[in-house]
Amino acid sequence: MSVIEPILNRKSTKIFKKTEPISKEAVETIIEAAIQAPNHHITEPWKFFVMQGENMQQFYDAAMEFQKNRDISEEEFERMKVKMISKTMVAPTVILAVYSKNKNKTRGKYEEDILAVGAAIQNMLIQATSMGIDSIWKTGPVYNATEVKSALGIEEDEEVVGAIFFGENDNAKELLRKRTDKQEKTIWL
Ligand SMILES: Cc1cc2nc3c(=O)[nH]c(=O)nc-3n(C[C@H](O)[C@H](O)[C@H](O)COP(=O)(O)O)c2cc1C
Repeated sequence: MSVIEPILNRKSTKIFKKTEPISKEAVETIIEAAIQAPNHHITEPWKFFVMQGENMQQFYDAAMEFQKNRDISEEEFERMKVKMISKTMVAPTVILAVYSKNKNKTRGKYEEDILAVGAAIQNMLIQATSMGIDSIWKTGPVYNATEVKSALGIEEDEEVVGAIFFGENDNAKELLRKRTDKQEKTIWL
């Protein structure tokens, strides 16, 4: 049993090829990996919103509504529109990993629950890598905008911790992984 291979092979994909969405079965396996993450007091503080194909339009419309309502120039609005179409809409599959407070488990602490969602997201990335699916974890104000949350049915007190994009890397844009050597980050006591 070795998990180090997908861990070492995972890298963030900036540009996705225009391909079909990943299969429902693959999405379900990735979410199965997510929900196995450790979570204190078994709060299971997560929900996963899957966006693929035509359903991405719903997100796009709400995101553009958010941009429209911001105090930005016409130029900036157009820039955001291009960015949204060229970067977000081309991703074959996006899963929003959402923090959702478990109302039946009052012992859950916000900080711990958010960390648990982060652990769930890492499980998703590693599982996807092991299946030959490329990915990236993205954040940004648009994902938690009121316009977007209400369009997708994300409750007010819920929080998008990550928008996880899945698909196939366009190798032309591949980035080199950069990490400080582990020796510099390790203190042996
Ligand atoms: C909480 C979090 C938020 C991130 N948000 C973004 C983002 O909005 N846009 C982006 O291009 N990458 C984002 N990333 C990905 C990082 O940029 C990426 O992990 C980093 O460059 C290291 O590259 P690697 O994932 O290939 O090791 C995010 C990563 C994390 C953990």
